[in-house]
Amino acid sequence: MPAPASPSPRPWRGIDVPPSILELPRMLYEDERRYLTWLTKSQYQGWGAIVDLGCWLGCSTVCMAEGLRQSGKQGKVAAFDLFEWDPGYMAQDAPGVQLPYGGDFMPEFHRLTAPWKDRIAAEKVDLFGYRWERGPIEILFVDAAKSWGLLNHILRGFADAIVPGKTRIVFQDYRLPMCLWLPLVTMTRPDLWQEIENTTNGTTATFLARRPLFGEGGIGGDYWPESFDFATADRVLRERLRSDPDGKTSYSETLVRVARMYGSEADVVRARAVVDGCDFSQQYRLPADRLEEVAGDLVPAAWRACERRDYEAAMRFARRSTEGPAPSPWAHGPLGMALLATGKLAEAEREFLRMHQALPDCRQPLVYLADVQSQQGRDREALSMLARVLPTLDADPSDAGYAFALLRRIGERTELRREAATLALSASVKVRSLPSVGKDFEFLARLVG
Ligand SMILES: C[S@@+](CC[C@H](N)C(=O)[O-])C[C@H]1O[C@@H](n2cnc3c(N)ncnc32)[C@H](O)[C@@H]1O
Repeated sequence: MPAPASPSPRPWRGIDVPPSILELPRMLYEDERRYLTWLTKSQYQGWGAIVDLGCWLGCSTVCMAEGLRQSGKQGKVAAFDLFEWDPGYMAQDAPGVQLPYGGDFMPEFHRLTAPWKDRIAAEKVDLFGYRWERGPIEILFVDAAKSWGLLNHILRGFADAIVPGKTRIVFQDYRLPMCLWLPLVTMTRPDLWQEIENTTNGTTATFLARRPLFGEGGIGGDYWPESFDFATADRVLRERLRSDPDGKTSYSETLVRVARMYGSEADVVRARAVVDGCDFSQQYRLPADRLEEVAGDLVPAAWRACERRDYEAAMRFARRSTEGPAPSPWAHGPLGMALLATGKLAEAEREFLRMHQALPDCRQPLVYLADVQSQQGRDREALSMLARVLPTLDADPSDAGYAFALLRRIGERTELRREAATLALSASVKVRSLPSVGKDFEFLARLVG
């Protein structure tokens, strides 16, 4: 892998950020605010848009709007966000804002950014599925690539506006252990991505695309945890440790996360030793249960592996999600499913029972348990289990298709056809009419004439 280009000597060091910006609620470090102001003040040429993805209460927007104002150039910062309040991670950085979960914070954004309003155009946008069709972008500030899926959508949705060698793609979350996809995606394709700047403190790194992001020689498909393996991810992070020393503590933490996701317990121990050797006096150290909580990434990966019938991978991802300081009960679902699909019925039942014990109000493990029982010839038990499930489908029909397919199998293959049909007929009209249920319901109804 060729060494990345050396980042710039940070000419934004001398830039002054007005005190009014320093007072805004923010999730950005001082050097990041200086950098954004410098970008639009002295680097912006005017041939493309300035876009802020994930503007929150406007700190990043205002830094870029202020630089633009100081440059004397025309233009506005296009600021995109869902504008839906999530107290879980927003409240601590904005103690003055009191909103419920999901509350609209756009009015707060407008209030806080009012002095720069002639330089800002804010829009409520869900970046999942959004496509930019407003011409080339000169500066794309990305502070919303908070998951593998969202990164995939942002790359696809903005790719056409990225001019190779010219558009700055500023990844604000680049050094964050919880956004490890950013170094993995960029560092494994040095033929596609060129790093040109990063900040002294904070987590920002900026890239140019060396060629169009999609098409020949571009990104092949979506990125997911399963797109990488331990050897690659570990090598990438160790390379970052060398090439970006200001991110040392963050990358060391990411090494632990990578080891928990892809490596062995010995790899985790080795990576933890690197973190223990770091000086965290300037930075918050993530607690182990947050840093090593990988189920949010790996449980969906395990389900995807089940869908493509790669049961070995499904078990690997799911088992990892049950280990370490933050085991997840949700991992027993795909683990049990992979065991079920490979004929290990007793082990599958054990996993579903564990899931049920940990999540007693969750219906999923009951449906899966009914499936195991039926496959073991315990069809009466399976019907009793489904009798517990059916009344709950009105409120949430997500497992209805699975439950009715199971009922049909019992009705078709055992002597319990009347019992299975009677149970099906007890379902509400709403459930019977679901597209995922209709055919199986009709079959069962015919069994009792
Ligand atoms: C870390 S905050 C951004 C901080 C901000 N740039 C600043 O300077 O203070 C991330 C933002 O991304 C937004 N976001 C998350 N998912 C989104 C989505 N699907 N579409 C649009 N915005 C999203 C959140 O609402 C949140 O405001």
